[in-house]
Amino acid sequence: MAFSELIKPGRVALVTGAASGIGRAACRYFAGAGMTVAMVDLEGSELASAAAEVAESHPESAAHVETFPCDLSTEEDMASLHSKVIDRFGKVNLLMNNAVTRIGRGHEVPLDEWRHAMEVNFWAVVSAVRAFLPGMQAGGEPGIIVNVGSKQGITNPPGHPIYNITKSALKAYTEALEHELRSSPGRKVRAHLLIPGWTTTGAKAHQPGAWLPDQVVEFMAEGLQHGDFYILCPDDEVSTAQDHRRILWGASDITENRPPLSRWHAAFADEAKKHC
Ligand SMILES: NC(=O)c1ccc[n+]([C@@H]2O[C@H](COP(=O)([O-])OP(=O)(O)OC[C@H]3O[C@@H](n4cnc5c(N)ncnc54)[C@H](O)[C@@H]3O)[C@@H](O)[C@H]2O)c1
Repeated sequence: MAFSELIKPGRVALVTGAASGIGRAACRYFAGAGMTVAMVDLEGSELASAAAEVAESHPESAAHVETFPCDLSTEEDMASLHSKVIDRFGKVNLLMNNAVTRIGRGHEVPLDEWRHAMEVNFWAVVSAVRAFLPGMQAGGEPGIIVNVGSKQGITNPPGHPIYNITKSALKAYTEALEHELRSSPGRKVRAHLLIPGWTTTGAKAHQPGAWLPDQVVEFMAEGLQHGDFYILCPDDEVSTAQDHRRILWGASDITENRPPLSRWHAAFADEAKKHC
């Protein structure tokens, strides 16, 4: 399926976490391609102003940009999101599960916070796919699901274990989903894992080394165009080759029988630095 068959007027993109950062930039990109865009984020977030900005940046698409306030961590909102979007637009061709909640530290954090992180970063994705995928498969049009993961879900650096765990679960889920999709006869829908690098989002000041959200979205579009499943973004500090070495180092903790997270272990850190 050609990417150009999907990213064009008449197709519908739904983006979660659309009020900020990469999600907001993705909405600008999709609106720029003439797509109808459903922008999903928390009520009271920057959603309305983000939608106004997307509409202003592409006045020709302004009529096709709409907001759907939704708390992805609640079953009620998740249950009604599908009917609201389908009642309004009739279909979704591109589902971008991008919203995130970030929680610092790990084991000592109250379980409610662990659960909330899993609700937003993992379960909301599973629910959205279960809600929208049947319609995407039933229609005669191509479909794309982009789940937004993280390098932290692959290499598991210390510091934010809950975030890492949610993104690791999302990676495993998305891989399994793509396997199921490619095994289905006459498949129309593909799944992809977008793995951004360091990206300036929200109110953070832009630092040298980071990418801007628009760069990530351009990179994502190229990856989708090539049909890549893993869309592994570099940034201005970490190259793709370095990412590959870090991923291989982490995997070889198992094959070399090293302790986990050996990149950050006193006995292995110097050796790891030479490789990664
Ligand atoms: N920024 C980075 O450096 C970076 C690096 C790697 C991966 N990522 C991933 O990229 C994606 C986008 O990151 P970002 O930095 O652009 O995000 P961001 O923090 O700028 O925006 C996240 C959005 O998610 C929304 N959100 C949070 N909880 C929600 C809920 N319960 N219901 C609905 N919306 C909710 C927030 O309101 C916010 O608008 C995330 O999945 C993140 O894990 C980002």
